[in-house]
Amino acid sequence: MNSKLHSASAAVAERIERRWAVISVLIIAFLTGMAAYAGVHQATMPQSRVETIDPVKLHMSGEFVESNLGSALEPDGSVTVRVVGQQYSFTPACILVPKDTKVVIRGTSADVVHGILIRQTNINTMLVPGYVSELPARFNRVGEYLMPCQEFCSVGHEGMWAKVKVIEQAEFTALAADKRRLSCVE
Ligand code: CUA
Repeated sequence: MNSKLHSASAAVAERIERRWAVISVLIIAFLTGMAAYAGVHQATMPQSRVETIDPVKLHMSGEFVESNLGSALEPDGSVTVRVVGQQYSFTPACILVPKDTKVVIRGTSADVVHGILIRQTNINTMLVPGYVSELPARFNRVGEYLMPCQEFCSVGHEGMWAKVKVIEQAEFTALAADKRRLSCVE
């Protein structure tokens, strides 16, 4: 009698254990499936806007050669700012932009990961070697903004920063008339 009761409760315990084992295997299978799906999805459908660039050849040719850095007035009236971060400075160190104008910031890094953060704005992006970061901006107030590096990039990180100077549109257009690339580096 006693042993019969014992085997009955053992059977119940075994059934419960088996059920929980099945549930945990299902959870693992579900998570594995999700990871596999995400992996395949990333590989077959890359993000629509990933631009790559060779970080060791930045200074030799292409969009980010030194002579092409700074602010360029585009035919449609917008301004493209090209900036490179390197240990421990930004080029240009003073970025010049017009007020109330569509600005597109394009940046990359020549060495390690840096970051752009323009104080008093929501402009904040990482500069990753090998990739071009692009983000839109618009400044509606004339003045100067600090742009510190916001990504720890080794011992000189604290000293890595640039300035953004916002000037009136007419003033910018006049300067752009006789200079291909503008900055406020003296
Ligand atoms: Cu560059 Cu921190």
